[in-house]
Amino acid sequence: MPTASIGLSVESLPKLVYHLPLMKGVYIQTYGCQMNVSDSDRMEAILDSIHYETVKTPQDADLVLVNTCSIREKAENKMSSFAHELKSLKSQKPGMLLGVTGCVAQQEKEQILKELPFVDLVLGPDNIDELPWALEKLNEDKSTPILRTEFDQESRVWESKTLIKNPGPSEFISVMKGCDHYCSYCIVPWTRGRERSRTIDSIIEDTRRLVNKGVREITFLGQNINTFGKRNNESLHELFYRAHEIDELRRIRFTTSHPGDLQDELIQCYVDLPKLCSYFHLPVQSGSDKILRAMRRFYTVEQYMEKVEKLKKARPDIALSSDIIVGFPGETDEDFRKTLEVVKASRYDNLYSFAYSPRPGTSASTRNNQISELEKKSRLMELQNLARQISKESHQQWEGQKIEIMLEGPSKKNPQFWTGRSSQNIPVHLAAKAGMKPGDFVLVNVVEGTLTHLMATLTNAASHKQPDLSN
Ligand code: 5AD
Ligand code: SF4
Repeated sequence: MPTASIGLSVESLPKLVYHLPLMKGVYIQTYGCQMNVSDSDRMEAILDSIHYETVKTPQDADLVLVNTCSIREKAENKMSSFAHELKSLKSQKPGMLLGVTGCVAQQEKEQILKELPFVDLVLGPDNIDELPWALEKLNEDKSTPILRTEFDQESRVWESKTLIKNPGPSEFISVMKGCDHYCSYCIVPWTRGRERSRTIDSIIEDTRRLVNKGVREITFLGQNINTFGKRNNESLHELFYRAHEIDELRRIRFTTSHPGDLQDELIQCYVDLPKLCSYFHLPVQSGSDKILRAMRRFYTVEQYMEKVEKLKKARPDIALSSDIIVGFPGETDEDFRKTLEVVKASRYDNLYSFAYSPRPGTSASTRNNQISELEKKSRLMELQNLARQISKESHQQWEGQKIEIMLEGPSKKNPQFWTGRSSQNIPVHLAAKAGMKPGDFVLVNVVEGTLTHLMATLTNAASHKQPDLSN
């Protein structure tokens, strides 16, 4: 093993370096989906390797990164107002660097540097591994901003190792990126490129490595994960069977799915694989066939409902969630009522609903049958009221039942409570007890189901303890 001259192993050096003034601070502001959260984790780990430690406020930082989302206009506006807030901070701290990463970076490219001339660095999602190079360049010469938004060149298979600085009990692994679908409202194919998957072997290697560090729950991520592996003759269900064999991995989750690509083999996993959590995010987007066609979704409501039924048969306690867009161009009140019917029939445990937001470059954005903002708002409110009522009823059904949860940590609002999650992905709160550790699996009695969570008490039954991983 190579050793440093003071007789310590090289592995122990980074800890020493933390105490040197060379250490710099980074603050990462993340907007958007779980893929962005995972990209931010990656950036944090990459930066850690070049002696940047995460700080709690932009004021403490030498480098601020804004990892952006462009799925709806609101998300884009948030990033722009955050960047403007940093302008005055930058003038007080001349050495500070500001970078914009993620989907807005990919989409707007040099436009960002024109509109926000105080930005030093623009990196698309495929370029975040270039961070060390970019920072070195900027440290040499800060007067020339850096812009890198090339999609990587791998045509079929994308190889990458998951990087997470301090893994918790539940972590994400990106298994693919991009999307080949071009739904008419969606910016993702422009910001994340064509679909590319990793190999199952490399994902399993990542999973084992994380599990050895104490991770017990993995969420596999992809924009349309149902077509995972299609270019290299692999599939999502094969990945799940392989991951299921890893002893200390207790839970498998995944997101997000396109109903048109959901195959019976994946549904069969809910029969065969107990570690696959009883949860499925299956975005329907609309309950009207006419609107689904206009969205270019290539399934009908009937086909969607058939898949819902199959899932409920395969795993009777499964919780479903969905995404719905209201006010898509051409959506009539009758189309909207059909959406409400689908929500009633599917009984979503959790619904993410959005007012249609025209995205520049997408085909729906220039259609001449746009719906007024007022109408969109009123439909959204009606839909959300219905969805809330269903979520609450569905959570109340757990009252009186004994369930297993994985503990995540002390509750943010009240440290006398701990929070965990059920297999159905519902947050569960219970009174804190000495010896509780994140990653412990415990059996609880549900005493109350509310709109957002379950309240529970610990049972006396034996639980699966997380080993002490602090050494
Ligand atoms: N307007 C509103 N919602 C959108 N989504 C994607 N694009 C748009 C848009 N242009 C929603 C879809 C998708 C979720 C992640 O965001 O419902 O499933
Ligand atoms: Fe966007 Fe999903 Fe459609 Fe792909 S499948 S274009 S990510 S909505």
